[in-house]
Amino acid sequence: MNREDFPMLKQDIIYLDNGATTFKPNSVIDAINYYYKEISANAHRGDYDISYKVDIAYEGARKNVAEFINASREEVVFTSGATESLNMIVNGFFANILGLGDEVLLTLSEHASNVLPWFRLAKTNGINVKYIDLDSNLHVLMNNIKASITPNTKVISIAGITNVVGDERPIKEITKFAHENNIFVVVDGAQSVPHTKTDVKDLDCDFLAFSSHKMCGPTGVGVLYGKKELLENMEPVNLGGGMNESFDSVDEVYLKELPNRLEAGTPNIAGVIGFSAAIDYLKNIGMNNIKLHEIKLKKYLISKLKNIPHITIVNEECDSGIVAFNVDGVFAQDVAYYLNKYHICVRAGNHCAKILKNAIGVKNTVRVSLYFYNTEEELDKLVELLSDKDRIIREMI
Ligand code: ALA
Repeated sequence: MNREDFPMLKQDIIYLDNGATTFKPNSVIDAINYYYKEISANAHRGDYDISYKVDIAYEGARKNVAEFINASREEVVFTSGATESLNMIVNGFFANILGLGDEVLLTLSEHASNVLPWFRLAKTNGINVKYIDLDSNLHVLMNNIKASITPNTKVISIAGITNVVGDERPIKEITKFAHENNIFVVVDGAQSVPHTKTDVKDLDCDFLAFSSHKMCGPTGVGVLYGKKELLENMEPVNLGGGMNESFDSVDEVYLKELPNRLEAGTPNIAGVIGFSAAIDYLKNIGMNNIKLHEIKLKKYLISKLKNIPHITIVNEECDSGIVAFNVDGVFAQDVAYYLNKYHICVRAGNHCAKILKNAIGVKNTVRVSLYFYNTEEELDKLVELLSDKDRIIREMI
C-alpha cells in the first residue's frame, strides 16, 4: 500500500518495528522542508507575512488533529510526544487532586510512560497504584475492572492498545462504567491512534495522549487531549513565553486561554506542520483500511509462525498488528541480531513494558509490529529465516 511514497522503503530493508516508530512519506518530509525553506518564523509572535503564514499552518494543524480525533480546537495541546502528554496529565492535573489512599488502576502491560509518572505520585502524594488482573490471553475484561475498583479508586489509566501484547481495550465500555463510579479515564493512545479510528467524544475518555512519529509524522511532537473543563483546571507544568497574557509581579500573572496556556515556549513548529501532513496522509488511506490490512497481515504471520515448532507466540489472540514471540532457548536479542544480518528490523527486549514479565512469565520477547506499508512477501522472508533453528544458532553471533 503506497510504498513508493516512502523514501526509507527504497532501501534494502524489511522494517517490522513500527511500534517503535514509523517511516515518513514524502508529503510529510516536504511539509517540514516547506516550513524551514519558505516560512521559517516563530509562531504566535510576529507581525509580518511569514509569521502570519506560520500561524495559519500551526493553528490549521491543530484543527486537523482535532477533527481527526473528533475533539474541539481548545482540547488539543501540542507536546513533545505521548510521554510528555502523560507526564502533564499526571503532574499538571492529578497531582493537584489526588492524595493519601486514592487509588489509580493500571495494568501490568502498560508502557513505562503510563507507569512511572504514577509511581512518582505514589511517593509525592501517597496514592496507591493497583493493577487490573489480565485474563489468560492478557486482555482486560470488564469483570476484572469491576472487581478491581473500590470506593478509593479515582483513575483508570490504560493504553488503548498495548505495545507488546497488542490487545485492544474496550475503552468506551470502561469509560461508561468508570464515570458511573466517578472515576477518571486516561488513555495512552500511542499504539492505538496510529492504527484505529479514534473518536474521543464517542469513547468519552477524559484524557488521551499520543505521538506523531508512530503515525508517519515527525519525532518530537505529540498531543495531549483533555476534555475542556478538565484542561481548564490543569496547572501548566512549564511556564514561559507564549502561554501568558501578562505578568507584573509574583501575584500578577495572567495566563492565556486554552490551549496556548499549556504550550510554553517556542513549539516544535516544523514538527506540528509535518504532523498535519501525516494526518492528511492517513486520512487519505482511511483508518479502517489501515486496521484491516494490519489484521490481515497479523493473521497471516501467526498462521505461519504456528507451524514452526521452536517458536512460542506470546500474544496469539491480539487485536492489532503486533506479534510477540520467542525462539525457544534463544535469547530474544540474539534473534534480532540474526534477523538484522538479513536486513530485517524487529525489536527485542522488554519494550519499555518492564512489569509485563510478571504477567507473561518471560522477560524478553521478539516483537514484530506492522503498519499499512508492510507486505506478505516481507513476512514470508521473516518466516523463512525463523524456520531453521540450527541456522539461527549458527549465525546469531
Ligand atoms: N514505546 C515504543 C515501543 O514500543 C518505543 O517500541
